[in-house]
Amino acid sequence: MLSTPVLSAPSRISLSPRSISTLPTRLRPHDLLRVTDQSASDVLEGRLDHLLPDGGRWPIGERWAKRLHSDDDLDVWLISWVPDRSTELHDHGGSLGALTVLSGSLLEYRWAGTELKQRRLDAGDQAAFPLGWVHDVMHDPASATTGPTLSVHAYSPPLTAMSYYEVTERSTLRRTRSELTDAPEKATL
Ligand SMILES: [Fe+2]
Repeated sequence: MLSTPVLSAPSRISLSPRSISTLPTRLRPHDLLRVTDQSASDVLEGRLDHLLPDGGRWPIGERWAKRLHSDDDLDVWLISWVPDRSTELHDHGGSLGALTVLSGSLLEYRWAGTELKQRRLDAGDQAAFPLGWVHDVMHDPASATTGPTLSVHAYSPPLTAMSYYEVTERSTLRRTRSELTDAPEKATL
């Protein structure tokens, strides 16, 4: 956890009456998208270099993550993605989520009720994950970048648990296990 918060965006969010609900967080997907966008800029413009791997040596064997910010409302993580390592189909427990891709490309397979829908997320693209969102995310092998594939993720409330799923022969979703974790997208910390 950082002693000095690097993000100020959440404290500037004004709450409308519609924001008061039974959801477990005062933040909404568009708030998280704004946070990941700002954090992506902070990384790309060098303001968070002290949190990045020494000498720009990004791990090449496993997905890697660094917490950029943490408070009672949200966690913000930088993730580097590597080939042949998917997250497995998972949800984010009781947390909302969002991401911004900084470099490279990701593939997301999202459960759409009866099948998995694929989309590609390139540098600059964003995605939000409402409660109940189940997806598998991976480095896109067709990514044209020669550098690291990076994305910033925000979760609110901070991630504490994830469940994993498989698609059955009847085209339904079966939960296979749940884990207590604060590690985003099954990353190595
Ligand atoms: Fe996820």
